[in-house]
Amino acid sequence: MWKNIQPAPPDSILGLTDEFRKDKNPRKVNLGVGVYKDDTGNTPILRCVKLAETELVEKQASKSYLPISGDPAYAAAVQRLILGEGNEVIGAGRAVTAHAPGGTGALRVGADLIHQFSPQARVWVSSPTWANHNGIFGAAGFGIERYAYYNPESKGLDFEHMMSDLKKIPAGDVVVLHTCCHNPSGVDLSHGQWRQVAALAAQSGWVPFLDFAYQGFGDGVDEDRFAVEQFAAVGVDFFVASSFSKNFGLYNERVGAITVVTPSASEATVAMSHLKTVIRTNYSNPPSHGGLVASTILNSSELQAMWLAELAEMRNRIVGMRKDLVAGLARQGVEGDFSFIEQQRGMFSFSGWSDEVVQWLRKNSSIYVVGGGRINLAGLTTSNIDYVCAAVAEAMKA
Ligand code: LMR
Repeated sequence: MWKNIQPAPPDSILGLTDEFRKDKNPRKVNLGVGVYKDDTGNTPILRCVKLAETELVEKQASKSYLPISGDPAYAAAVQRLILGEGNEVIGAGRAVTAHAPGGTGALRVGADLIHQFSPQARVWVSSPTWANHNGIFGAAGFGIERYAYYNPESKGLDFEHMMSDLKKIPAGDVVVLHTCCHNPSGVDLSHGQWRQVAALAAQSGWVPFLDFAYQGFGDGVDEDRFAVEQFAAVGVDFFVASSFSKNFGLYNERVGAITVVTPSASEATVAMSHLKTVIRTNYSNPPSHGGLVASTILNSSELQAMWLAELAEMRNRIVGMRKDLVAGLARQGVEGDFSFIEQQRGMFSFSGWSDEVVQWLRKNSSIYVVGGGRINLAGLTTSNIDYVCAAVAEAMKA
């Protein structure tokens, strides 16, 4: 069967982690995959997660199937988290949420659902975007287009060009937007810009699909949902794919959710019926453990407070590493203004390092950076930052 078939290329992000694992250099640094690390280089299990797990293990009396859309308490907690407690959408029953296996699973379920009814629609992603957006929406059968987003010269958002592209998108097409902490650039929209995009969605009739993988890594859990609130307020149909890999550190439990927001409760009920069909034919019903951990935390005021504090600790460490990186590069005499790194949000920064620099770093210093120059700031620690900055200085001269 496989004799005449060429191997598929390795994944641009997870494939890099495979290479990193094989690398025997004791000084190796992984600035590739978006996984949080503490200052010792470890990806910790949050204290609130350990406590919730202990509670779950003690109380759990069965491993029977969850409902197709997952535990209703989980769905309710997710809605409060992404829309904000008391949001009109929740009270009006305009949103339905299903537990999905990670953010990728949520995006794929949403993509399959849309494709079932709008197979002719095109999906618009930011230029650049997370590489897997192309994979997921392509695999669901969509043609993919790009709208302007990042300006490599200003190292910021090209909002004017972005808006002029979004204005040309026809009703019914799907526009994937990064709710906060844009992956890969770290460049986000301001409040005023989000208001304009939401108003345009309402006017144009294209369907926003919000990828919400980093809630809490920008300015905070409440602050980061600003974009979601704007789309909810204008009353359009939209989708939100949540991931709890990063903000709960539940990477390998595959915890996420797909939320479909509609203009009315009756439409939401229809959406949920089809959501269930998509899930049933993909993986039947979700794995329970990670979702139960997240909902145990979100439904306990004590554990939730602990979670928010731990999340703030992760966010603040990354902000600190942004500052240290800019200072470290200057100390090593690397030419150029890198202050943009401090303005970006979330785990990632588009470093502006060329592919030659990225290759050099990997070959000569075992420093792994995603092609295009995206770095995960959480891979930096107080012990490896000087090593990284010195290597960048060398690479720039080479
Ligand atoms: C990333 O962008 O590195 C993360 O979202 C992990 C992944 O699945 O690609």
